[in-house]
Formats: sequence, C-alpha cells, structure tokens
Amino acid sequence: QAESVDSLLKSSGREGTTARVQGWIRTRRDSKAGVSFLAVHDGSGFDPIQVVVESKLGNYETEVLRLTTGCAVDIVGSLKASEGKGQAIELLAEEVHVVGWVEDPDTYPMSPKRHTMEHLREHAHLRPRTNVSGAVARVRNCIAQAIHHFFHENGFLYVHTPIITASDCEGAGEMFRVSTLDLENLPRTDKGGIDFGRDFFGEETFLTVSGQLNVESYCLALSKVYTFGPTFRAENSNTTRHLAEFWMVEPEIAFADLADVADLSEKMLKYVFKAVLAERPDDMAFFAQRIDKDAISRLENIIDNDFARINYSDAIEILEKCKEKFEFPVAWGIDLASEHERYLAEKHFKKPVIVMNYPKDIKAFYMRMNDDGKTVAAMDVLAPGIGEIIGGSQREERLDKLDGRMDEMGIPKEHLDWYRDLRRYGTVPHAGFGLGFDRIVSYVTGMGNIRDVIPFPRTPKNVAF
Ligand code: 4AD
Ligand code: MG
Repeated sequence: QAESVDSLLKSSGREGTTARVQGWIRTRRDSKAGVSFLAVHDGSGFDPIQVVVESKLGNYETEVLRLTTGCAVDIVGSLKASEGKGQAIELLAEEVHVVGWVEDPDTYPMSPKRHTMEHLREHAHLRPRTNVSGAVARVRNCIAQAIHHFFHENGFLYVHTPIITASDCEGAGEMFRVSTLDLENLPRTDKGGIDFGRDFFGEETFLTVSGQLNVESYCLALSKVYTFGPTFRAENSNTTRHLAEFWMVEPEIAFADLADVADLSEKMLKYVFKAVLAERPDDMAFFAQRIDKDAISRLENIIDNDFARINYSDAIEILEKCKEKFEFPVAWGIDLASEHERYLAEKHFKKPVIVMNYPKDIKAFYMRMNDDGKTVAAMDVLAPGIGEIIGGSQREERLDKLDGRMDEMGIPKEHLDWYRDLRRYGTVPHAGFGLGFDRIVSYVTGMGNIRDVIPFPRTPKNVAF
C-alpha cells in the first residue's frame, strides 16, 4: 500500500521501515559516485520526498537514468534519516517501477524551472503539477473546507441552489442563456452551423448569477443556511478580479439585520484565515517567499484586528478630500471604483473595511430601503490589495416596499412571484452576503490574477480546457 509523501515526511520514528510511494518525478540528479536522487511528488504536500537510487538496482542503467521530470513512478524502499538539508527523512529505493514515461522530455511543457504564469495558463491541464499550482490547489481546498466547518459549527445548513434559473438576481443583465439542443434533429442555420434554439423546454432560462433568491426561501424556514456553488456572469471584463464562472459562498440568516451579517462576515473571514495558517504552513511559506512577501503577515494582521466599519456617505467624504488622486470622479451617488475601494482599505484604514448603507440607485432591487429613502441596507467588505471580496445586504422583507422597488427598476414580477410569496407568508427581517470564493483564494495566496487560483478559468477567450 502506497503512503502519501506528506505523511511520510511528517512522520517520526519510521527510519528503517519499508515504505512505498507513488507519484511523479520533479527532478533527477546523478552523483558521480553512481547514485541518483529523485525528487518525487504526489501533491499531498508542498515538499517532494527525496528518493536515493543506487546503481546496483537492476533497472538503474536502463530506466532510472532515463527518468525525466513528469515521469510517473511507483517506488518501494526503506526510510532513512536524510543527510541532506531541509528534509529529515528520505527513501532508499529497493525497487523503482516506471508507470508512465514522458514521451518527449524536450517538449514537455512543465520543466522544473520557473515558468511564467502565462505559460502555466496555456497549459492549464498540466499546471497542477507545478509547485505554485499545487500549493494554490491545496490552499483553495483548505479554504473551502474551512468555510464548511465554520458554517457547520455555527449551526448553518448547507443548501443546494439551482444553476439554471429564470430570474436575474442582481438585475445587471449579465446572464448566459441556457438552451436545449435536440441532438436527433439538429436544426441547421443557412450557413451550415447549428441553431442552438432559444429556450429550455419552452422557457427562457439562464445560468444563475447568484444563489441568493433561492437560499432566502430556505432561510425563511430553516433560519440559518448557506449555499456554495458556481455562479456565472456574462460581463466582458478583462481584469485580474473577474471570471465569467466563479464560486460564491452565500449565507443567509433569518431574524437578522445588516449589523448581524457584517459581524458574520468578519467572524467567517478570521476563522478561514486562521485555518489556512494552521493547516497549510508549508504552502503559505512558499507564497510568502515566492509570490508575495506579505502573504502570511497580512492574514495575521486581519486575524488580530477589528475590521473598520463606515457608512457609504462618510466613505465618500474621505475620498472627496483627496479626489485628485483618482482617475474616476468622486461624488455622493457613485458606485465605488476599484481605485476608491483600494484607497479606503489600503491607504486610509490599512485593514479590511465594511462600507454600509449605499445609495439605492446603484444597488439591487432586493436590498432593504433605509428610513432616509435614499440608501439601502447594503454592505461591501473591502480588503487591502483586492477591493470588494464580499457583497451583502439586509433584504427588503416588506412586500409593498419590494414591489415599489421592482416597479421603479422595471423588474418583471412574473418570474419572481414565488420570491414575493416569501413576503406574504410569515415574512421576517433577514440578511445575507456573498463571498467571492476565488477572490478570497487570490487574497490569501497573494496570486495577483484570479485566473491563476481557479483550476480552469472561464474568461473571454479562455475556454480551451
Ligand atoms: O456583490 P455581488 O454581485 O453580490 C451578489 O451576487 C449577492 N446576491 C450576494 C448575496 O448577498 N448573497 O457578488 C458577491 C461577490 C463579490 O463581492 C465578489 O467578491 C464576487 O462575488 N464576484 C466575483 N468574483 C469573480 N468574478 C466575478 N465576475 C465576480 N462578480 C462578483
Ligand atoms: Mg457587489
């Protein structure tokens, strides 16, 4: 039975015992004394295990000396204390079985040297074999697990919301349409292409931009719920923070107001950051060394300090005092641009800041109207270095007010009658938020481009894999 490289490297007292590892060659180095050193990784942790192969092995000349980066191997040997620096334990091979060769080592795209992120993106199917993509994948998994643990420990139920929907939650018109395809009778257009039709068994449907509306229905029955799934936005933006397909975490609490979800967002982020530092120290040390020197200290800072909280109107006052710094104009009523968000978090507060009570005209129809008639109970969590990572609100629970907003914004009611029912039957104040999961992974790892923290990014011109 093979053991994971990570558990072997972290074991103690195993010297002299037999072990078997299965994985891929990262590097091979041959000493003049007729011994080869293989670095073998299996993705279980950051470090590969060093395997020492002596020339007396039967296939040393014929196979071991032909091993190159990327070859798959299955190795049995005995563990011994390592003389090399960095690692306590290494494997002295008794048997090296080559499971899969690399056909043409000269053209294998993942050499052990450092590659540019662009190169890795062009080989998205092979990049998980590199240090950097492996570390991202492990941290991404750790964050996802921590989020589930957090909600579980706090009494939230995980609810699965649909991907296909008829309604536009954010009302931004950024939806991908879903249509049926009759494979037997593919209608052809005049030009010979396929006519993909227009409907989902007769209804116009889309890929969801958010699970919120559906999760609200479960919230108004089960009290504390969250959904965590893929969401889609047909925004043609080519930035380092936007994807056409991204993952969102959306908790929703009944009998709660804006301050309650602001508290929840802070508590959840701190919990997640603590988990990453505790569970993935090797990967985080790598990010701090190679990607962003502040990767660890940034998280420690957030864990140790309260988030700033400010009303939108006060945030505008702060920004107006230094408006010459910005490309985009500052005035009450604007939607904050990324440069404004980053100024508030990075320069002014120097920590995450929760901006609350935005003008109603720049926010979605479901947000609760404040008594001033001008603002809604919305909040965004802005983090230094990235800007908005969370967007949330208290929901409008009063049917007349909700209808008023829908009419004002020209939102057709026919697809949302079920949503309006939630206000007809036992309505209560409730609130929730959406965390951009990929944004939080890029924040934690310091990876500057969101395309490098999701396995197969979907952006304009990026669907090859
Ligand atoms: O602010 P947004 O649009 O909020 C909603 O969708 C609400 N329905 C959430 C809720 O209250 N349940 O999106 C929430 C978060 C943003 O703060 C951002 O982090 C992320 O989702 N996000 C994106 N991440 C990557 N690519 C995109 N195109 C994103 N658009 C939003
Ligand atoms: Mg938002």
